Amino acid sequence: MERDRAYLAALETLDNGKPYQDAYFVDVPLSIKTYRYFAGWAGKRHGQTIPIDGDYFAYTRHEPVGVCGQIIPWNFPLAMQAWKLAPALAMGNTVVMKTAEQTPLSANHVAQLTKEAGFPPGVVNILSGYGPTAGAAIAGHDHIDKVAFTGSTEVGQLIHSMASGNVKNVSLELGGKSPNVVFADCDFDYAVEMSHFALFFNQGQCCAAGSRLYIEEAIYDKFVEASVARAQKRKLGDPFDADTEQGPQVSLEQLEKITELCQSGKDEGATLATGGTKHGDKGYYFQPTIFSDVKDSMRVFNEEIFGPVMQIAKFKNIDEVIARANKNHYGLAASVFTKDIEKAFKTGHELRAGTVYVNCYNAIDPAAPFGGYKMSGQGRDLGEFGLEQYTERKTVIVNTPGKNS
Ligand code: NAI
Ligand code: MG
Repeated sequence: MERDRAYLAALETLDNGKPYQDAYFVDVPLSIKTYRYFAGWAGKRHGQTIPIDGDYFAYTRHEPVGVCGQIIPWNFPLAMQAWKLAPALAMGNTVVMKTAEQTPLSANHVAQLTKEAGFPPGVVNILSGYGPTAGAAIAGHDHIDKVAFTGSTEVGQLIHSMASGNVKNVSLELGGKSPNVVFADCDFDYAVEMSHFALFFNQGQCCAAGSRLYIEEAIYDKFVEASVARAQKRKLGDPFDADTEQGPQVSLEQLEKITELCQSGKDEGATLATGGTKHGDKGYYFQPTIFSDVKDSMRVFNEEIFGPVMQIAKFKNIDEVIARANKNHYGLAASVFTKDIEKAFKTGHELRAGTVYVNCYNAIDPAAPFGGYKMSGQGRDLGEFGLEQYTERKTVIVNTPGKNS
């Protein structure tokens, strides 16, 4: 992958539409780092010897789960492939992976690379195909022992029930509507820029996108104004141009979903501060969009938009904002911007989310677990916890001769 870095990045951009700069500097290196991280675990995950009553020698073994079915989405095709393949292989499993129908190319090249690297035939199996056919066949198959999925909450629920036939081990990384809480005592310019990045990165197509902004009253107007100015400066264009910040959305289906949700925001009375429609007449570009004066009950504040659309609401105090931020069925990520250490810890600990960023965003590393509370999923990808779902633990109890009868 290091050798083919430019080629993989180009495939990713052609397939997904993301800026080549992002593919080259984020997606490909993160994927490589993920394989290296989990390769390091391959010989380090082992059992224990456990003293139990009586004269026995008791120990545990970590054994592979078996055949792992993995179904991945289109927003980070290479990185999602790495997040799933690397821990499964490091723990000795075999894999049948279905890539997203929108973005099969980079994964196919990695499949080719596994041959070159010398994986035995049958260990890594990469399929292109549609969800209701190829995906469902994996989720429901009796000879598949585990299913791992990243994608929409609706499909995650379907997979969960399809997997119940043979009681598969199921891990799900689903949608999000992550709150970003900005206190008046933050580093203002930095918080504006980070909040912009938190939402607009990858055309807004991030499961962890910081899409519900709660801004403290005293800086609310100024924050909206600065965020609008930043969004209006965002450079849309050919994803292969070096200065392009935003490429097209992945598909017409996604463009239509974003357009429909923006219409609902206008209909429900949010203030459209900038953007709101398709950009240009070529490709699936959507204008960087901001809604302000958003109310907690509005659809744009509760449903995952998965596009370049930011929602901004106002808050008065810390207890109120924590309660409001937690009133959502998702719980993937959250963030807080403040210089006050007490507010940072309190908010960070009380927000119900799998990852909380304090004065940063999208600081993803293969060593740090990632996954959701509530309807954002179950199980964790990455880190030591990411290995859990790929091993069975066997307990072996041996009678120590002569002492136990
Ligand atoms: P999706 O959940 O339908 O697709 C994700 C993967 O699941 C793809 O590989 C797809 O082929 C597969 N799939 C679809 N239906 C299936 C089924 N019945 N059985 C087994 N596998 C199935 O997501 P989609 O339609 O691409 O996007 C819809 C929304 O989902 C997005 O607007 C976004 O809100 C969310 N999403 C969240 C992602 C995340 O990173 N958590 C990634 C992609 C989408
Ligand atoms: Mg779908």
